[in-house]
Amino acid sequence: MPREITTSAVVKLTRNPIRDIVDNLKIEPPKDRRFLSLALGDPTVFGNLQPNDEIVAAVETALRSHAGDGYSPSAGYPEARAAIADFARVPSRPLAGDDVIITSGASHALYLTFKALVNPGDNVLLPAPGFPLYDTQISSLGGQAKFYPLDPARNWAADVAAMDALVDDRTVAILVCNPSNPCGSVFDRATLEGIIAVAERHGLPIIADEIYLDLVFDDNVFHPIASLSTTVPVIGIGGLAKKFLVPGWRIGWVLIWDDPAHRLAELRRGLMGLSALILGGNSLIQRAIPTILKVNDTFHRRTLDVLINNAHRSIEAFKTVPGITCIRPQGAMYLMLQIDVAQFRDIRDDRDFAEQLVAEEGVLVLPGQCFHCTGHFARIVFTAPAERLDEAYARIDAFCRRHQR
Ligand SMILES: Cc1ncc(COP(=O)(O)O)c(C=O)c1O
Repeated sequence: MPREITTSAVVKLTRNPIRDIVDNLKIEPPKDRRFLSLALGDPTVFGNLQPNDEIVAAVETALRSHAGDGYSPSAGYPEARAAIADFARVPSRPLAGDDVIITSGASHALYLTFKALVNPGDNVLLPAPGFPLYDTQISSLGGQAKFYPLDPARNWAADVAAMDALVDDRTVAILVCNPSNPCGSVFDRATLEGIIAVAERHGLPIIADEIYLDLVFDDNVFHPIASLSTTVPVIGIGGLAKKFLVPGWRIGWVLIWDDPAHRLAELRRGLMGLSALILGGNSLIQRAIPTILKVNDTFHRRTLDVLINNAHRSIEAFKTVPGITCIRPQGAMYLMLQIDVAQFRDIRDDRDFAEQLVAEEGVLVLPGQCFHCTGHFARIVFTAPAERLDEAYARIDAFCRRHQR
């Protein structure tokens, strides 16, 4: 009898709620219409947002130099780490190349961080709505997510009192995602200071997922949370995926902003040790990082112009759609639609909305359920070219009118 081959506890603990929902979502678009997906948080899918020639040339140079053919040190090449520290540094707080660990995307940076912090039974405070991978990774380590609510009525500001009340003796960190996926919101300074006060009161570090940094619209301002405190330890998460429009290049990073008492010393050693579990991030792209991070402002301005125009286009389009409130996007590349199911004849919830919409109109949006969202919401990724957005929004409008009570 051959020995049975089973899987590890980690496999059994790894659940991906977004996959569970998306895989079970009935996605049956009509055959006679162009399928329009506004579901994927990948800015490259439509071809209208791409890295510019300068960024591509930096990789080409690295490729031809053969300097990135070999393994890098597991935390990354010193030049790349120093360039990331220069890029991420805030005036009020030192950050050096030694404080940076280069990873295979921000998702790997998050995983290393949770792995270094979370023992079975520990918990991390997470935003709801939030990026579902946090919970997946924490649960896979035997940890637990505890969700603090973001309030749609206040443009998704964090409920800081609720956050404070969630802390218990097994809480190991507070995670903040700003600008937010999936909400497209940007925390104002007062909210961030409130979060810092909670962390300070309980002696907790903050994990700051700031991968959408600087993708901020109109008069909103992005404050790196590390810039607002010199005493709370901050573990920053970032990467090239969004601001530099290259999610496929798989470069992320962990930034260690220690406090004056060096309470992150052990975590730093832990992260360094864990970074050796894989033999370093993508060497080729690391060689190009010093140039990529200094790409001219015109590149960033262009990305931002596309996002801002699309954000405004979206706000305008949904003003007249019955049963739908578009919560004004402030940053990132997302917006949330609030669905007033009472105004529809035959739409039960957000999932039903998404399924019927794709079946009838061939437009895919993700229901808020995918993001631990209570109430009925749908997330829209608005990176598509304007004419596609217009077409998708016209179809959503027609759908809502047809189903209106
Ligand atoms: C909030 C947030 N953090 C992290 C990631 C992962 O980024 P990466 O592609 O660099 O792994 C994403 C990707 O969508 C994200 O939305």
